[in-house]
Amino acid sequence: RDPFRDLLVHPQLVWFLNQIIGYGFRLDRQPELLCDATYDVAAPLVGGNEPRIPARAYYFQNSRRYCQAVRAIWALADVEEGDGGFVLVPCTHKGNVETPDDIATGEDDMGLTFQPAMKAGDLFLVAGTVLQGVRPWQGAGSQRLLSYEYAGRAAIQSAGTGPKVQEDPSPEWHAQITPEQRASLYRPEYEYSSPPPVLVTDGESVKIDESGEVFHPSFYNRDPNSGIDEKEFYFWELNGYLVLRGVMDETWLEKANEAIDKFEDKIVVGEELSRGSETLAGTGRPTLGGLLTLPDPYCEPFRQMVSHPVVQHRISWMGGSGARVSGPTAFCSVEGTWGHSLHDSGEPMYPPMGYQFQNGRSYSEAVTVTWQLRDVEPDMGGFACVPGAHKAKYEMPPGVRSCDDHMGLVKQLVMKAGDVLFFADGAMTHGTTAWKNSIPRRGILIKYSSRSFHRSGGE
Ligand SMILES: [Fe+2]
Repeated sequence: RDPFRDLLVHPQLVWFLNQIIGYGFRLDRQPELLCDATYDVAAPLVGGNEPRIPARAYYFQNSRRYCQAVRAIWALADVEEGDGGFVLVPCTHKGNVETPDDIATGEDDMGLTFQPAMKAGDLFLVAGTVLQGVRPWQGAGSQRLLSYEYAGRAAIQSAGTGPKVQEDPSPEWHAQITPEQRASLYRPEYEYSSPPPVLVTDGESVKIDESGEVFHPSFYNRDPNSGIDEKEFYFWELNGYLVLRGVMDETWLEKANEAIDKFEDKIVVGEELSRGSETLAGTGRPTLGGLLTLPDPYCEPFRQMVSHPVVQHRISWMGGSGARVSGPTAFCSVEGTWGHSLHDSGEPMYPPMGYQFQNGRSYSEAVTVTWQLRDVEPDMGGFACVPGAHKAKYEMPPGVRSCDDHMGLVKQLVMKAGDVLFFADGAMTHGTTAWKNSIPRRGILIKYSSRSFHRSGGE
């Protein structure tokens, strides 16, 4: 048992837990092995921040974190990518939207589930409120992940383990009072009180609900008639970007591409945007502007993009009515065109282009929409971002900005001709990776500014 006890207070782990949970953390319960034998690997993932569980939630204020639940996973054997086992959905500890069933069951996870690869001896830390679980093991060797769950000072989580928690410590006189009265006098962290008793009220009566499900009345009701696709909304709120597939048909694509071919000589090669990065270095970025005022019929495929119902509807729920358009501009990068170093983030906060969530609404003051006129292949360059960075609380490290040391945080999106990309520019970290495809990029970029702000400060 000594090696397991040593891991409990491993000096490096303790340093991290002091930073992440804060002083006074404790082990919530006995450590466990995460494997097919100890876990229901067919069960939906658990976690997420809606509804909020205060005893497990992530708090941030004045540069301090108070992450009330942290799971420390020690890899006792290697785990390769694709091995299965422990999985999670990044950034869900800051999510404001309930997890759609398809994401939790894996039925249609929208590409959000991440299975970390680890080497034997690695330590993996994950917030307890991140959506997570264990999937069937596919690896060659045996699965050896040892999990310790820590709780913040004073946080009430599991009943814990050991003989004491089986007892009912209620004093005898509790037999003389009503079950409802007893319910208000329970002692936490015993098996009889985990989950705690639930009193359901309506302002006139008090009743015990045996189901044990939290009763916490809300001012607002979810609106099934909002016309919002709930999975899209979840994805946007979580990541700060969204891709709609196949919005343009073949004819429309053809016309748009033809127009750009026709005015190729008007393409202007732009300034250096890789900002000294080694990864993003290359030649200037070719763009073609003035698309809405091209001579007839060449302006037509681009005018069709403005106020397009499918796109306009998303703009409506992302930031409300009154958004106005600038552009569109065609991005026509050729092989070797340099990337654009990553920019914008939740920190430092810039309200005119920021992202907020309140009472079921997304307030994205700036949204950029990019219509793809050609396929964007994996690892061939193009739009890249740090999903979730619209809610970041720490400044971006220089290596992420340049992509020279991206920490695995930067995602280059793969798209098909006809797809439309939305992103919360100004809030979610984004940029471009150097174009490596011999077929030039064709993306039509349209910027939307909200009714509330000038995106450039008002000059
Ligand atoms: Fe940008």
